Amino acid sequence: MANAVNSQVKAWRDRVKALKNLPPVLGIVWKAAPVVCATGLALRFLVALLPLAALAIGRLIINIVVAAAAHHGGPIPTAIWWLLAGEFAVAAVGNILNRVIDYTDARLADEFSREVSERIMRHAATLDLQSFEDPVFYDKLERARVQATDRISMLNALGRLAQQFITLISLSLGVVFYSPILFVILFVCVVPAFIGESHFAFLGYSLAFSLTPLRRQLDYLRDLATKREGAKELKVFGLGDYLRERFAGITNQVLTRNRALLKRRVIAGSALGFVSSIGYYGSYAWLVIRTLEGRLSVGDLTFLAGALQGTSSQIQLIFSTFTGIADQALFLTDLLEFFAVKPRIKTREVALPAPRHIQEGFEFRKVSFQYPGSERLVLNQLDLRIHPGERIALVGENGQGKTTLVKLISRLYDPTNGAVFLDGIDLRDYDIESLQHEIGVIFQDFVRYDMTARENIGVGRIEHLGDEGRMTEAAEKSRASEILAKLPHGMDQMLGRRFESGVDLSGGEWQKFALARAYARDAQLLILDEPTAALDAPSEYEIFLRFAELTLGKMALLISHRFSTVRMCDRIVVLENGMIREQGTHQQLLDSGGRYADMFELQASSYR
Ligand SMILES: Nc1ncnc2c1ncn2[C@@H]1O[C@H](COP(=O)(O)OP(=O)(O)OP(=O)(O)O)[C@@H](O)[C@H]1O
Ligand SMILES: [Mg+2]
Repeated sequence: MANAVNSQVKAWRDRVKALKNLPPVLGIVWKAAPVVCATGLALRFLVALLPLAALAIGRLIINIVVAAAAHHGGPIPTAIWWLLAGEFAVAAVGNILNRVIDYTDARLADEFSREVSERIMRHAATLDLQSFEDPVFYDKLERARVQATDRISMLNALGRLAQQFITLISLSLGVVFYSPILFVILFVCVVPAFIGESHFAFLGYSLAFSLTPLRRQLDYLRDLATKREGAKELKVFGLGDYLRERFAGITNQVLTRNRALLKRRVIAGSALGFVSSIGYYGSYAWLVIRTLEGRLSVGDLTFLAGALQGTSSQIQLIFSTFTGIADQALFLTDLLEFFAVKPRIKTREVALPAPRHIQEGFEFRKVSFQYPGSERLVLNQLDLRIHPGERIALVGENGQGKTTLVKLISRLYDPTNGAVFLDGIDLRDYDIESLQHEIGVIFQDFVRYDMTARENIGVGRIEHLGDEGRMTEAAEKSRASEILAKLPHGMDQMLGRRFESGVDLSGGEWQKFALARAYARDAQLLILDEPTAALDAPSEYEIFLRFAELTLGKMALLISHRFSTVRMCDRIVVLENGMIREQGTHQQLLDSGGRYADMFELQASSYR
């Protein structure tokens, strides 16, 4: 029990704290569209005063009508025309203003959504690769991404809150004027409903929060079962039912927990609503009796009944709007926490530009590396030099740290111990952007952009996307030009299946486009991580002859499991357990009869 109370207190504190999120987010909103914001607020202020105006005019009308009805057949008082016209004007103006407010709300929603999405993209681009490989961070990003743009209703709610507040004040002034006690009774009756509302809204948030991992699993299963990438394998393995059952199992868990909360909410909500009704109708009865006693006019009765009704509903509205806002403000925590994640790998205050002409090359000195949260030394005191103009092949069995080494050279990660140097200077002393400008990497799991052929090449050096000559040249070097010749729209052909008129390519064809990117990049160090895994033998052979020619005099790092490719390099480095097992030319390594010779023999014998 004490625990439950404690968690309630904490819940309250969290929620009050979450309101801190509002100013920075309001800042974003204001920046996104200042004029729309200001217009919306001004209009809401006007609209907020209309209910009081309508009631006040209504009171005058009824008093005149009651007086006139006392002597039948008398002349119609002229004032009544003016009052009717006034009542009509209030309604008409209210109608128009509300439409304009809808318009400003919609505009604001659009602008906010655009601003937040852009900021999320901008910020995501600055973050470490490590963040993206961390599931906890990924949950946060997911919540920020999906929910933050859904927080738009909160903005409108804030506007509404201001409006309801002004209406409440204006109406309650009317009620307080006649009887302060009436107002207090009403207020007290609404408080329980407010507490109930906010309590359940918080429980809803906690539930949604704790369900995020399950939801991610659901999204994954649904994607897996319905997307093209998985279709082939799922069909031949007959996995449809298995996936659906897993999906159903998790969905049941989610639904059961949601349902339990909804039920509690219905019961408590009804009970508290009942208390509020008692407050309102008790006050109303009191007013009716006073009118019958002749202490209030009929006009006063309608005015007060209207004002009471209005105050009561405004108080409830304000509380529920406020709860909604506090609830949504909690979600904003995700967004702001996401924005607060800072990259650890970043350019130092004083940083050097990368050398335009690399003189001494790259050097790993006693580099050890562990992935965050893992005990295993993926690289262990590794020493390796890449001299200018040297083409190195990195070979080794799966999981020996080849790709990891590439991530360290390109500063996607920093070493746990030791350091990587370029021309004798620690990589961490260079400006990252400038360093990465000199490095062209095509990873094993390179991206297949659902964009045009030109863009698939041009992303290698996006500044030169419009340079037709450069794109064509890169395509020729990688033999992507042969694929281009067969595409109906050539360079402008949309690739991939995601968009209309897109043409899908084979794995090897995609790889040729990835290679073209590497050539388009025209960097001082070219790194290809298994660039030919999907290529057929003739393509591979030819590409490597060209690669050897094209990279002559340049630094290149090539990771491959194919010895036909590897043997063309100046030096072959065999990586094992994060250390260099042996190195030398193809012939030297064969002659020494070590690990490389074994692996070569194994591959060669399978062709005999
Ligand atoms: N993001 C990561 N977080 C934790 N561990 C990782 C991560 N990426 C790789 N590893 C681990 O580091 C080790 C080396 O991985 P790496 O990708 O460098 O191997 P590789 O030599 O490129 O293998 P392959 O030939 O299969 O491409 C592996 O045991 C892998 O499990
Ligand atoms: Mg790898």
